Amino acid sequence: MKSVNILLTLSVLALATFIASAYDPSPLQDFCVAIDDPNKTLFVNGKFCKDPKLVKAEDFFTYGLNNPGDTNNPIGSNVTTVNVDQIAGLNTLGVSLVRIDYAPYGQNPPHTHPRATEILVVVEGTLYVGFVTSNQDGNRLFTKVLNKGDVFVFPIGLIHFQFNPGHYPAVAFAGLGSQNPGVIPIAKSIFGSNPAINPEILAKAFQLDQKVVKQLQKKFWVDPN
Ligand SMILES: *[C@@H]1O[C@H](CO)[C@@H](O)[C@H](O)[C@H]1NC(C)=O
Ligand SMILES: *[C@@H]1O[C@H](CO)[C@@H](O)[C@H](O)[C@H]1NC(C)=O
Repeated sequence: MKSVNILLTLSVLALATFIASAYDPSPLQDFCVAIDDPNKTLFVNGKFCKDPKLVKAEDFFTYGLNNPGDTNNPIGSNVTTVNVDQIAGLNTLGVSLVRIDYAPYGQNPPHTHPRATEILVVVEGTLYVGFVTSNQDGNRLFTKVLNKGDVFVFPIGLIHFQFNPGHYPAVAFAGLGSQNPGVIPIAKSIFGSNPAINPEILAKAFQLDQKVVKQLQKKFWVDPN
């Protein structure tokens, strides 16, 4: 009986170890700086990687996040991204960064990141932020008013937004749990798809008149990203 228990414990432990290592991002090496020239590659790990001997400090560097993005657009926000496209050395490492600028009453409209949780800190002004949970959780809305120094988390995949309710510009920085988090702006993806989704489908899905759907599909959908 005792040996059966030990055997069971051991196999559960082995399974747990297997699951953990299967889930870990596991870069397998210190870094894998993405490279476009396949002739100069050495290791393959998802993407081609630059020969580590040729890697320089510049591969892990970018600059300019002190500069505000231009918020002079219909939604009044601008996202400056720092992901694997800006820093090739982020490849496989599972993190990235954004700076978000908000005009007075500007917003970062409802969107999701398919591959990343986001943690946001307000460094200037005030933001009203929120996310909506999935069907399984009853589509609950979680919101918060954030002031300078406040931090908020948007869990991976959930629809979220930020709105600046103040008379002054606001600035936030956010870390994301992927070197390539991706972004799906809800309104732009649905009504600004290329080619357009059949208006009949959207009319039924959104309980709208087809005329309204067609009007929405004619609009220009600004993407702050
Ligand atoms: C890679 O090498 C091949 C064969 O030597 C050459 O034809 C090709 O132009 C090279 N590609 C680049 C991007 O340098
Ligand atoms: C965001 O700001 C940058 C830098 O000022 C600008 O080039 C870009 O067009 C802006 N994007 C939007 C959507 O306004």
